[in-house]
Amino acid sequence: MKKIAVLEGDGIGPEVMQEALKILDIISNKTNIKFNYDKGLVGAAAIDSDGNPFPESTKKLCSNSDAILFGAIGDPKYDNDPKAKVRPEDGLLEMRKFLGLYANVRPVITYDSLLDSSPLKKEIVSGTNFVVYRELTGGIYFGEKSISDDRRSAYDTCFYNIDEIERISHLAFKEAKKRKKELTLVDKANVLDTSRLWREVVQKISISYPEVKVSYLFVDNAAMKIITNPTDFDVILTENMFGDIITDEASVITGSLGMLPSASVGDKISLYEPIHGSYPQAAGKGIANPMAMILSLSMMLDLSFNLKKESEIILKSVEDALKENVVTMDINNKKYLSTSEVGDWISNKVTDYLV
Ligand code: IPM
Ligand code: MG
Repeated sequence: MKKIAVLEGDGIGPEVMQEALKILDIISNKTNIKFNYDKGLVGAAAIDSDGNPFPESTKKLCSNSDAILFGAIGDPKYDNDPKAKVRPEDGLLEMRKFLGLYANVRPVITYDSLLDSSPLKKEIVSGTNFVVYRELTGGIYFGEKSISDDRRSAYDTCFYNIDEIERISHLAFKEAKKRKKELTLVDKANVLDTSRLWREVVQKISISYPEVKVSYLFVDNAAMKIITNPTDFDVILTENMFGDIITDEASVITGSLGMLPSASVGDKISLYEPIHGSYPQAAGKGIANPMAMILSLSMMLDLSFNLKKESEIILKSVEDALKENVVTMDINNKKYLSTSEVGDWISNKVTDYLV
């Protein structure tokens, strides 16, 4: 029995989660792999009911599970209030730290049928296929920070130790070995000591992976190259804040934001979530694209449970839906279906492929 913690979160989270769970149920019913899932509150939904974006009950649920499926977090009512005492995002950060989810893995791939939606020229973006390994539990997000009582000054500290750099670097090098064997460390080593430490550590580790070609890019330059030469990248490794920024940039150039899943990997447990966020404007309208959530499920089956076949089947079913134009409004605003219609179609495909 595999235990999954299901955290739908805010905005469109619950709607897209429902579609992924349809598929999980099918896999549970049609195979001898049994999944058991329990829902927990997180984010604004949890603040509303418990006053805490990552309540004790959710902590317990996650600690006792084998993997976490996560919808989205965030509510506009907190965004424009710099004095808000508690924010949905605090729950996410605490969850990452508490569960030790130290590596955020975001594949950035293009789908030919969606290239017209890319803000870049087709010939530049076509064939883009890289993955970003973003450090997730250190750096400026978690360093000492303070705002003065008179609110006239503030600071945030960026801190890393060797262990934090090493563990994610090994993951990224191992991934590079399976891919095109190219790893790019993105940093700001011309200015920051933490970046100099990252370079030192990565240079040392690279000796154990002689087949992987390592290059180094300053983050400002990397931000340009992602736009001008996205097909040049294979595996990008970077620290927390730089990773936050370049993963958003990287995801949008594909023209398929609603399609991209991610994993936040820890030693004991990993979390899988779509990267599109809570998209509150679309909540409750049945227009959200469930594909990134469904692909996050596919990533979970592969990475946490080594269910390669089932994972592939989901991937293939989503690709079929794209080919057949079974899509939501974000992908085709002339001819589209609802969130649950797209989910049903993909579920039926998965059912067909499973027998
Ligand atoms: C992300 C998000 C979060 C982050 C926010 C919501 C705290 O942007 O997962 O990339 O900055 O890490
Ligand atoms: Mg982000």
